Amino acid sequence: MRLFVALELPWDLRQRVAMLAGAGIPGARWVPPENYHLTLRFIGEMPAYRAEEIDHALAALKAPGFALTLAGVGTFDKGGRSVSLWVGVERNPALDHLQSKIETALQRCGMEPERRRFTPHLTLARLDNAPEAKLAAFVQANNLFRAEPVPVQHFTLFSSRLGKDQAVYTPEVEYALA
Ligand code: 2AM
Repeated sequence: MRLFVALELPWDLRQRVAMLAGAGIPGARWVPPENYHLTLRFIGEMPAYRAEEIDHALAALKAPGFALTLAGVGTFDKGGRSVSLWVGVERNPALDHLQSKIETALQRCGMEPERRRFTPHLTLARLDNAPEAKLAAFVQANNLFRAEPVPVQHFTLFSSRLGKDQAVYTPEVEYALA
């Protein structure tokens, strides 16, 4: 199964974020609000016995809960092209701490270290040749976006499978934070 570790977000917050999405950018494939999440660690395809090891390691992890604030918007580029549009997260040492504990736990399970720096974000849209001027206008118009802080009391191991148009993400296990 294809796995990743992420924070689920409360429905009110997703609806608030969804108000940013939806129009005005040709080539944007907007993520539906039911798929919004904040990835802490992408795991990838794993056989069941490894998934079980990962579950045990995550269950043993201890980290405090915290408040999370979504703020700002931006794009990720690849080869000089914008490939995704996202909502950012206010700087949050407790979130960084949780992410690094998860990283350590997964490395102990034999996973290769994640080489990319952790850049917490919620993907709003994937982009296929979206006009850069439209993206710049979107970022400028929404850069002051800031949601109410929400309490984070657990993190979640998700499985992902390909749906017809969108991936289907299923929460498999929730892990409580202290
Ligand atoms: P993204 O939102 O930045 O695209 C489930 O697919 C989650 O895992 C998505 O949030 C996605 O991040 C992330 N993801 C998918 N493939 C990945 C990969 N190869 N490396 C890192 N993260 C990945």
